[in-house]
Amino acid sequence: MSALEEKAKESSDNNGGFAILFFIIGLAASLIFGWVVFPKLLYSQKKQPFDFSHALHNGLVDNGCQSCHFFREDGSYAGVPKLAQCVDCHEDVQGETEDEAVFVNEYVKPGREVPWLVYSRQPDCVFFSHAAHVKSGGMDCKTCHGPIGESESLKPYEENRITGYSRDIWGKNIAGFKSHTWDRMKMDDCSECHVKNGVRQNSVQTEKGACFVCHK
Ligand code: HEC
Ligand code: HEC
Ligand code: HEC
Ligand code: HEC
Ligand code: HEC
Repeated sequence: MSALEEKAKESSDNNGGFAILFFIIGLAASLIFGWVVFPKLLYSQKKQPFDFSHALHNGLVDNGCQSCHFFREDGSYAGVPKLAQCVDCHEDVQGETEDEAVFVNEYVKPGREVPWLVYSRQPDCVFFSHAAHVKSGGMDCKTCHGPIGESESLKPYEENRITGYSRDIWGKNIAGFKSHTWDRMKMDDCSECHVKNGVRQNSVQTEKGACFVCHK
């Protein structure tokens, strides 16, 4: 090999090295963007009006979860509690926490309902019935909601800036992996369980089940 040829070879090897280096930098940058930056941009965090401890209250009420989350006479679900479930105990301040002071002064005294942010809220086009799952199906709250009923504090509510829906619908894992039944509650998560349990299928059956079971 002549000296000239040798030089040329050396520089092309270097170019190869640079190309790989730039490829790795580019890949790392897009992975960081996709996995770390994008989810942060996609969701805005909102705080609940004040914090609330389930763990504390479960020990104070007589009727467990149903003291606050119950079925009405017509079978519909009361969902998040109204002020009426709280005022018997909170007409006056009970403890010394700031959260309770905010609750009593800004909501109980003026008689204002608390504008709770509902983590599990589905789009309006979705029909969901607690009676079907909890009463007929005998399912545990935790299956769909996770351990929030035992929590000491409410997590921030995260809203998807594009759809306006709660992050709990798509879940935290952007690759779509799910390690608990409650990690997310997209259409496929509802239908996965429905198909497994043979929930009312119909002549207009599809692999998700009849659309009108969950969409009215
Ligand atoms: C003293 C009243 C009270 C009791 C008792 C209570 N909760 Fe709650 N629960 C609340 C309040 C207030 C919220 C509103 C926070 C929110 O917006 O999520 C809530 C929210 C929830 C949510 C979240 C709904 C959502 O998607 O935002 C779940 C799930 C829940 N409770 C389950 C339980 C379970 C399970 C129990 C029994 C182990 C229980 N709760 C007992 C008052 C109560
Ligand atoms: C059975 C009585 C009882 C009921 C019903 C009840 N509370 Fe309480 N709550 C208490 C007591 C007692 C404390 C004070 C504990 C302390 O600070 O020592 C408390 C503390 C709190 C606090 C401060 C501690 C925390 O959880 O962050 C908040 C906020 C609160 N309650 C909100 C509510 C709301 C909202 C409801 C209705 C959904 C409700 N409570 C229903 C008895 C009750
Ligand atoms: C099969 C899954 C499933 C089970 C089991 C379940 N939930 Fe839910 N829950 C949901 C879904 C989905 C929503 C949202 C409904 C919507 O937005 O239309 C919801 C909403 C709620 C809300 C907020 C309702 C509101 O809008 O005010 C509360 C509170 C709640 N669930 C508590 C409970 C409790 C307590 C239990 C156990 C007794 C329970 N859930 C069992 C799936 C479930
Ligand atoms: C972990 C399992 C599971 C999940 C998750 C689940 N379901 Fe269900 N669902 C069932 C079972 C089981 C039944 C039948 C209960 C019964 O009547 O015995 C049912 C029944 C229903 C019914 C009543 C159907 C009828 O014809 O009476 C509706 C509506 C429904 N589910 C909607 C939903 C929606 C919407 C979601 C998701 C947000 C969902 N379900 C998530 C298990 C599940
Ligand atoms: C087992 C319940 C279930 C069945 C069956 C079902 N869906 Fe859904 N669907 C949902 C839930 C829950 C959502 C909201 C969460 C999401 O976007 O994944 C949804 C969302 C959608 C959306 C997006 C709406 C929006 O505002 O984001 C469309 C469109 C849709 N479904 C169409 C269908 C069609 C068509 C069928 C019949 C092939 C069907 N669905 C069957 C539960 C169901």
